[in-house]
Amino acid sequence: MVGLGTMGAGIAQVSVQSGHETVGREISDELNERARTTIDRYLSRAVEKERMSQADRDEALGRLSLTTSLDEFADCDLVIEAIVEELEPKQELFAELERVCRPDTILATNTSALSVSKIAQATTRSERVIGMHFFNPAPVLPLVEIVRNEQSSDEAVDAAYRWAERAGKQPVRCNDTPGFIVNRVLIPLLNDCVRVLDEAGVTPEDLDKAMTNGAGWPMGPCALLDLVGIDIHVHASEALHAALGEARMAPPERLVEMQRAGKLGRKSGEGFFSY
Ligand SMILES: NC(=O)c1ccc[n+]([C@@H]2O[C@H](COP(=O)([O-])OP(=O)(O)OC[C@H]3O[C@@H](n4cnc5c(N)ncnc54)[C@H](O)[C@@H]3O)[C@@H](O)[C@H]2O)c1
Repeated sequence: MVGLGTMGAGIAQVSVQSGHETVGREISDELNERARTTIDRYLSRAVEKERMSQADRDEALGRLSLTTSLDEFADCDLVIEAIVEELEPKQELFAELERVCRPDTILATNTSALSVSKIAQATTRSERVIGMHFFNPAPVLPLVEIVRNEQSSDEAVDAAYRWAERAGKQPVRCNDTPGFIVNRVLIPLLNDCVRVLDEAGVTPEDLDKAMTNGAGWPMGPCALLDLVGIDIHVHASEALHAALGEARMAPPERLVEMQRAGKLGRKSGEGFFSY
């Protein structure tokens, strides 16, 4: 697992919990330890709630080794990348991974909005490069979009699909189109919801009440945006707008202003609601 931030730590947890020896790599020892602490906290909470035994927790944590060097990936069958959402660093990383890993290693990116094909172009073996798009929080949400780039081999796609299934996830196959499946639908839909607030003079409380009680949504759109993070949504929205050019894809001004003001949702303590 390369990158142990919000997503990478969660995916590493999924990996060790499903029995895989897992190498995690951050850019400093401090960030590595932060990730270990996060994973430890989630597993220990599962023990407290009697959803996991102490022995299983200890074994799972024992499968995690941490490093700041990519050389440790030489023996890995599958490498999943979850570093910063920018093309250049991802391409640099994939070129480096190709140098370090075995020729048959599957290289997967957790990108939300970048082209998997463009990331794969940094290597000479695009057939082994795929997307594995987990959802936040990765240990909790079951979906993994297994993304086929134009050159991905059936073997690589099938192996990633089976890996996700064995990890207790619900994988789906999709192609390397902007937003894949869920974000292609959800991002413009959430943007519409936010536009309704101002166009129709509705409060966030009432919008959420309307969508949960009238449309059967498990969570209101404003609560969902606060959970996802306003900055994450705006970034993905801009990328989708750039790729598809539809006005609905562009982030509504209200969200851009919230981002500018540091109202990022749950993580900043303030978004549509206070936390
Ligand atoms: N947060 C989400 O809701 C979400 C959901 C699905 C997919 N994603 C995708 O997952 C990826 C990671 O997102 P995140 O939210 O976990 O980000 P994050 O900022 O929490 O974590 C990124 C980590 O990568 C490390 N990193 C940054 N640049 C690096 C580099 N050049 N080389 C190596 N490591 C580097 C950082 O130290 C950081 O810990 C992105 O591609 C993002 O689009 C995010």
